Amino acid sequence: MLEAASDDEQRVMSLVRRRVAGEPLQYLTGLAGFRQLQLRIGPGALVPRPETESLAGRAIELAPEGATVVDVGTGAGPIALSLAYERPDLRVLATELSPEALEWARLNRDELGVEVELILCDLFEGLPNALRRGVHVVVSNPPYISETERSSLPVEVADHEPGVALFSPGDGLQIFERIAFGAKGWLRDGGVLLSEIGDRQGDTVLGLLRHLGYDSPRIRDDLVGRPRIAEAVWRR
Ligand SMILES: C[S@@+](CC[C@H](N)C(=O)[O-])C[C@H]1O[C@@H](n2cnc3c(N)ncnc32)[C@H](O)[C@@H]1O
Repeated sequence: MLEAASDDEQRVMSLVRRRVAGEPLQYLTGLAGFRQLQLRIGPGALVPRPETESLAGRAIELAPEGATVVDVGTGAGPIALSLAYERPDLRVLATELSPEALEWARLNRDELGVEVELILCDLFEGLPNALRRGVHVVVSNPPYISETERSSLPVEVADHEPGVALFSPGDGLQIFERIAFGAKGWLRDGGVLLSEIGDRQGDTVLGLLRHLGYDSPRIRDDLVGRPRIAEAVWRR
C-alpha cells in the first residue's frame, strides 16, 4: 500500500514542479543576493541580476558626499537599497510603476532598516518638486528588450518575470529615451545619468544622449566586460 506523502514531501514536490515549469530559482527560495545584500524576491518583481551590481557600484562611486540619488524603476530595490546601505550619507529616492514590485522594495527596505523614499509613479512624476534641478545622480535599470526579442528569451524570463520589467516599445529604447529626456529636468549642473542598456544598444544610446544635449556620453563595461552601462553628464 502506498503511504501518503508527508507535508514536507508535498512542499518539495510542489517546488520541483514549479522549477520544472521554468520558475526562477530565486522565486522559489524567495531570496536573491545583490552586492552586500540578501533581498526578498518573488513573482511581480524582476530577479536582480549580477551585471546590475556594476551599475549600482558606479552610482555609489560617483555620488558626492550627501548627494541626492534617484533610482528609476527600482523593482525589488537592489540599486536604491545598495546605495542607502553602502552610502548612508546619501538621500535616496526610488520610483516604480508596478505596485507588486514596489511591495517587494518596501519589504526589503523595512527589513534592512535603511532609508529610501519609495514612490509609486511613472518615471519621475511622483518626485517632490523641490528636487527639480537638484539631483546629483539619476540611475536606472529600465526595461530595454524589444518585443521582437521575446522569443529568444529563456522560459524563466519570458514566462515568469513581469513584462513591464523587461519590454520597452520600438527597438527597446523608448523607456530609456523617456528617462534620459526626463532626467534633464531633475539633474543639477554636472549631475550624472547612469543606465543599464543592452549590449548591442551602445551606439544608438550614445547618439540619443548626444541628441538630448548630454556632455561626455560613454558606455562602460559590466562585471564580465560587456558594454552595458551608459553614463553621461548634464550641464546647465
Ligand atoms: C529591468 S527592471 C529593473 C528592476 C530593478 N531596478 C533591478 O535592477 O533589478 C525595470 C523596472 O522598471 C519598472 N518600470 C517600467 N516602466 C516604468 C515606468 N514607466 N516608471 C517607473 N518604473 C517603471 C518595472 O516595473 C521594473 O521594476
